[in-house]
Amino acid sequence: MLKGNFDIPLDFLQTKTPPLIGVDISASAVKMVELSELPKNKGYTVERYVIEALPKDAVIDGNINNLEAVSDGLTRAFKRMGTRIKNVSLALPAAAVITKKILLPSGLREEDLEYQVESEANQYIPFAMDEVNLDFQVIGPAPGNAEEVEVLLAASRKANIEDRVAAVQSAGLKAVVVDVETYAAEAALDQICTQLPGGAIDQCVALVDIGANAINVNVVRNGQSVYVRDQQVGGAQLTQQIQDKFGLSAEEAEAGKRNGGLPDNYESEVLAPFCENVASEIARAMQFFFTSTQFGEINYIVLAGGSAVLAGLDDAVATRTQVNTLVANPFAQMTLSSRIKPRQLQTDAPALMIACGLAMRRFDPS
Ligand SMILES: Nc1ncnc2c1ncn2[C@@H]1O[C@H](COP(=O)(O)OP(=O)(O)OP(=O)(O)O)[C@@H](O)[C@H]1O
Ligand SMILES: [Mg+2]
Repeated sequence: MLKGNFDIPLDFLQTKTPPLIGVDISASAVKMVELSELPKNKGYTVERYVIEALPKDAVIDGNINNLEAVSDGLTRAFKRMGTRIKNVSLALPAAAVITKKILLPSGLREEDLEYQVESEANQYIPFAMDEVNLDFQVIGPAPGNAEEVEVLLAASRKANIEDRVAAVQSAGLKAVVVDVETYAAEAALDQICTQLPGGAIDQCVALVDIGANAINVNVVRNGQSVYVRDQQVGGAQLTQQIQDKFGLSAEEAEAGKRNGGLPDNYESEVLAPFCENVASEIARAMQFFFTSTQFGEINYIVLAGGSAVLAGLDDAVATRTQVNTLVANPFAQMTLSSRIKPRQLQTDAPALMIACGLAMRRFDPS
């Protein structure tokens, strides 16, 4: 995973990551997760988490559209967390980050490496260098050439990062790590893959995030993304259909969807067709995956995002795709603090993949 510090004026030279909470600023909500580590590598404990709803349009396509609303959401979420930790790790949407693998001579000193990275980055990044935050990580020796190393560059426009950093600052928090949403979700997926038979080694696992406005498919093999695809459909569409069908307000429809109490024909006339539609979008994404990569099989589908828990969705996806399908719970192997309600966490877990991956940054070795 990328270090992802992106030049925020902080902690570069620190040898240990300070205690921090993972903060995901998404379309529907601000999500916070705090994990702690059991001694002797005995795994993690979920200390606290919250999902604090954001007003519509506060975040659009991953960008903060209403800073005040996001800042208020963060303040409320932090208050509900009841934690003393004010350091946070954040993530940028993948679309806001340019990544590129480059080759550089091996054995460069740190300063020389930084200099070379910057001058190479110039060629790939369509913005003036003083407008971007740049980060890099040496991946290892270049395949088949011991004289060179492979380096992963990541760059984002400062404005993208500054908005998020400003939002957390105005809520009294301090950003110490900026990651990329996909990488954070992949770190959480790793927690799930280790529970699959054989640790899912050499297998293709499709992480399918069904959020409020989008379905994001990320096929991961041995911890590396091999394919991504986005579809513009999500749980907000189902909420809209419930409103239209039963003449309800957005709030009523949202509450009915989560807690039940909708008319009897909801399941057969609204929910089931929605699930079928999502399943066929996933099947279509799989067809694109097969035709555009060397791989011929998806071994598992892991459903994430708040809509993953819709009744019958996992069965609809499994039936349509004929692939083993499970609903994401990155906390399944973790101990829970007595503050956490296990059943509620199980329902919320699929929506917390990014926040969980970000919270795990607390335990980075460096
Ligand atoms: N318990 C639940 N049952 C049914 N739907 C739910 C439940 N919890 C959340 N949702 C739905 O999931 C969606 C929010 O999911 P999530 O939090 O993953 O989205 P997001 O990350 O904010 O949005 P996006 O990924 O599109 O930017 C909303 O449409 C919400 O109605
Ligand atoms: Mg999301």
